[in-house]
Amino acid sequence: MDVLDILEVESEVSLPKRYSELSVEEMESRVKEIKNKFGERLFIPGHHYQKDEVIQFADARGDSLKLAQICASMDKAEYIAFCGVHFMAETADMLTRPDQKVILPDLRAGCSMADMADIDQTERGWKKMQGIWGDTILPLTYVNSTAAIKGFVGKNGGACVTSGNADKMLEWAFTQKERILFLPDQHLGRNTAVKLGVKLEEMAVYAPLTNSFEYEGDFENVKVILWKGHCSVHEKFNIQHVENLRKQEPEMKILVHPECTYDVVQASDLAGSTNFIIETLNDAEPGSKWAIGTEMNLVNRLKDEHLDKTIVSLNPFMCPCLTMNRIDLPHLLWSLEKLEQGEVVNQISVSQEVTKNALLSLERMLERS
Ligand code: 13P
Ligand code: SF4
Repeated sequence: MDVLDILEVESEVSLPKRYSELSVEEMESRVKEIKNKFGERLFIPGHHYQKDEVIQFADARGDSLKLAQICASMDKAEYIAFCGVHFMAETADMLTRPDQKVILPDLRAGCSMADMADIDQTERGWKKMQGIWGDTILPLTYVNSTAAIKGFVGKNGGACVTSGNADKMLEWAFTQKERILFLPDQHLGRNTAVKLGVKLEEMAVYAPLTNSFEYEGDFENVKVILWKGHCSVHEKFNIQHVENLRKQEPEMKILVHPECTYDVVQASDLAGSTNFIIETLNDAEPGSKWAIGTEMNLVNRLKDEHLDKTIVSLNPFMCPCLTMNRIDLPHLLWSLEKLEQGEVVNQISVSQEVTKNALLSLERMLERS
């Protein structure tokens, strides 16, 4: 392939310049028009962290668990334009029929946490763990992981979890094996295990880059092996934010996502998935005050939706999830206009071989949720 061929391929898969020249009104009205034209043949799921300009067009909003459940029962749509990140679109592809096509409006919408565990590292680490602990470990993966990792977990008897069912899934996992490998988010793993009564000294951290463990005790005492991964958005909430807020606004309740670090979760009043955060605020008394530790688009939306409550971000300088924010109105419109022209751009398609094993891990989760 010469340079001109490469340029041509790139220009086919990236946003044409004309979309930056359209007004918001023009783009919104075209998206509405295309949605009307396709009717039930097109379905747009949207994660709670998506921007308002995109989420307004979602046929269903949800956290990762709800969106996976919806996709699993979505039999009418021919096209699913997923407004979320890459691992969610992969999950949607695996949970839908082969003739249903899943589109991610911008392929750059990845997840830095999912990128912290690749399949080669996982196989290498698993071999090392088997060498130490033998056949006593069950792998669990947060859905924020690649399809290949979900496949690995499925093949080894394990399951997926989300932040909405992690307690239940970890409890189930301990009925299967003595030890659990939890990947790729060490914080969700640690926070959940502590809730179930596992002690911090019974958890080892596995560092994939060095293929080594961060653990000082006797390996025989390890019950949970935490993959050394994290969410770069939720790690930006720290204990200093909690302490400052407790001093300045002692009556404010602190509500965080369990992807936050252990010390932040322990010092907060409540922790739970994005859906839990939304429901807690829906049920909260008018006049109550809340500091929220999760992604910025959701916190800003909650502020707008609850004018009778005081809602602030736990970190006043919080960033959005930059990869979630790749999905914007121009990319959504472009992918839908291409569909209208009979062309599917940015299709997410997981191989049959990976899907077979990954579905085992997803189904084990869905049947227990
Ligand atoms: P939930 O949707 O499970 O709350 O997870 C948040 C998140 O970080 C998604 O990437
Ligand atoms: Fe990944 Fe964190 Fe963004 Fe969720 S918020 S998509 S875990 S980087």
